[in-house]
Amino acid sequence: MTILITGASRGIGAELSLQLANGKHKLILVARSGEDLRKIAGECNQIAGSEVAVTLRYDLKDLLLDDHTFVEKLGEVTDEVDVLVNNAGMLIRKPLAEFKTDEMRSVFDINVIAPAQLTRRCLPFLMRSSEASVINISSMAGMPGSRKFPGLSVYSASKGAMTTMTECLAEEFKDQNIRVNGLAFGAVQTKMLDEAFPGYVANTSAIEMGQFLAWFVTEGWRRFNGKVLPVSDSTP
Ligand SMILES: NC(=O)c1ccc[n+]([C@@H]2O[C@H](COP(=O)([O-])OP(=O)(O)OC[C@H]3O[C@@H](n4cnc5c(N)ncnc54)[C@H](OP(=O)(O)O)[C@@H]3O)[C@@H](O)[C@H]2O)c1
Repeated sequence: MTILITGASRGIGAELSLQLANGKHKLILVARSGEDLRKIAGECNQIAGSEVAVTLRYDLKDLLLDDHTFVEKLGEVTDEVDVLVNNAGMLIRKPLAEFKTDEMRSVFDINVIAPAQLTRRCLPFLMRSSEASVINISSMAGMPGSRKFPGLSVYSASKGAMTTMTECLAEEFKDQNIRVNGLAFGAVQTKMLDEAFPGYVANTSAIEMGQFLAWFVTEGWRRFNGKVLPVSDSTP
């Protein structure tokens, strides 16, 4: 499979990449920080024993400018994408009263509009695959009825939007045979969690979530379409 992973430079995306480096898949790793990306790609290639991972350094924010560089760069490394994992995300935690409009916009830009634009840009690549799948990484924070936390209104709303978009796109791409599903993660120990909730210890490590995600990306998605599955072992 050819698997494109955004946010592959650290956290869950990096662990997913390492889990998928078994020699069976071609990995296209996307993030802004070239050095971190190259390190993860190097580790993937070492694990696989061959050049399975390529890096595509890109700021997903640029997709909002109708920038075509991403597609050009992608076309240089592959003709088709079997699985697109929209994993890159952004969290700003602060009370709504303190939020500036441009901060709200940047959260929605990275968590909602960039994944939508990337999916759009990847459509020709996905349509060349016989088993195309888009997997959106959402959050329990964006699931209706889940426990909510002060300071996460904008982040949670953006993940709620991603959840709804997942259901809609599954319907829209049905005739093109492209499955679209989402996973709503509970807390996972990463830089994002450390910055948002300093000192909080999650039940799940990034490696554990990377292992689960690797299974879903290669196998699990085949049983689903238009679903956003809660992946959390804490209650409520
Ligand atoms: N950790 C949790 O508890 C948790 C819970 C629920 C859901 N999630 C979701 O899981 C996903 C991964 O989170 P994480 O915890 O692994 O976060 P993380 O450690 O902060 O990693 C975020 C990744 O996204 C990339 N990224 C951010 N902005 C970008 C941009 N403008 N362009 C390109 N890449 C960008 C970062 O790379 P660069 O900085 O190098 O660009 C990094 O690789 C996110 O969607 C998050 O919302 C996480």
